[in-house]
Amino acid sequence: MERKPITTSTIRQMKEEGKPITMITAYDYAMARNVDEAGIDMILVGDSVGNVMLGYSSTIPVTMDAMIHHTQAVVRGTKYALVVGDMPFMSYQASEAEGLLNAGRFLKEGGCTAIKLEGGSEVCPLVKKMVTAGIPVMGHIGLTPQSVNQFGGFKVQGKDVAAAQKLVDDAKALEAAGAFSIVLECVPAALAAKVSEMISIPTIGIGAGNGCGGQVLVCNDLLGFSNGFTPKFAKKYRNLHKEIVGAVSEYINDVRDRSFPAPEHTFKIDDEVLEKLY
Ligand code: KIV
Repeated sequence: MERKPITTSTIRQMKEEGKPITMITAYDYAMARNVDEAGIDMILVGDSVGNVMLGYSSTIPVTMDAMIHHTQAVVRGTKYALVVGDMPFMSYQASEAEGLLNAGRFLKEGGCTAIKLEGGSEVCPLVKKMVTAGIPVMGHIGLTPQSVNQFGGFKVQGKDVAAAQKLVDDAKALEAAGAFSIVLECVPAALAAKVSEMISIPTIGIGAGNGCGGQVLVCNDLLGFSNGFTPKFAKKYRNLHKEIVGAVSEYINDVRDRSFPAPEHTFKIDDEVLEKLY
C-alpha cells in the first residue's frame, strides 16, 4: 500500500477507526530515518533528549535552542511520520506570549508539524492561542517530568478520587482547548482506559496500559541502548548496549592485532609510483 505522510487528521481518524497509533522518540537524523522506515506514525522529539542523549539527570536543563537543533535533524530524516516537538521547561511557563512564540519556533525553525506541552487545565488558555495560530498541540498529563521536583519523584499519578477526577477534567479541558491528542504518562491502566473513552481525541500512553489510543516509548529504552535503569513500563525489544559494546571491543582488538584494516578496506597504488619516490 502506498504510504502517505501522516497528518493530525490521520491521527484523529485512527482513533475513530480504532487503529492503534504508534509513537517513538528520536533526537537525530539517523534514528529518525530508521524509525520512519519502520513505519512509525509519529516521532516525538522529546525533551527526554536531556536525559538520554545529553546526560542530564532530568529534563529541566534542556533549552529551546537545543530542542530546535534536534528537531531540525529529526525532520531532515523523516519522510512520512508526523514530527512533534516537545516544549522544554520554561519555554511556555513564564508567559503566554513567550509560549506562543516558542511554539512558533518549532514550526518555523524546527520544521516539525506539531508541538507537545505538559500540563492540564492551567495550560488550556495557551493551548487555545496556539491552535488559533495554526499550531497543532499534543497535551501531556499524568506524570509530567518537568514537574518532577513538585511531585517529589517519578510516581504513578491519579491514584485517589481527587487526582483521578483532576486527570479526567484536564483531559476534557485539553480536548475543548483544541489539542489533537494527549499523552498519558504513568497512570493506572484502568483509569487511562476510562479517560480515553471519555474524550474523542486519541490518548497516547506511556506507562498507562493498552486501553489508550496509542503508545509512545523512548527509543533508547526500547532499543536497550544502555545497561542502566529502564522504567517498568518500557519494553526492551533489543539489547543494543550489548551489541555496541561487543562490536567496539572487536574493533579495538582488530586494530591492536593489526587484522583491521584488511586488504578489502584498503586503497591501492601502482608500485611504479612508489618506486619513483625518493
Ligand atoms: O520527552 C519525552 O520523551 C516525553 C515522553 C515520555 C512522552 O515526553
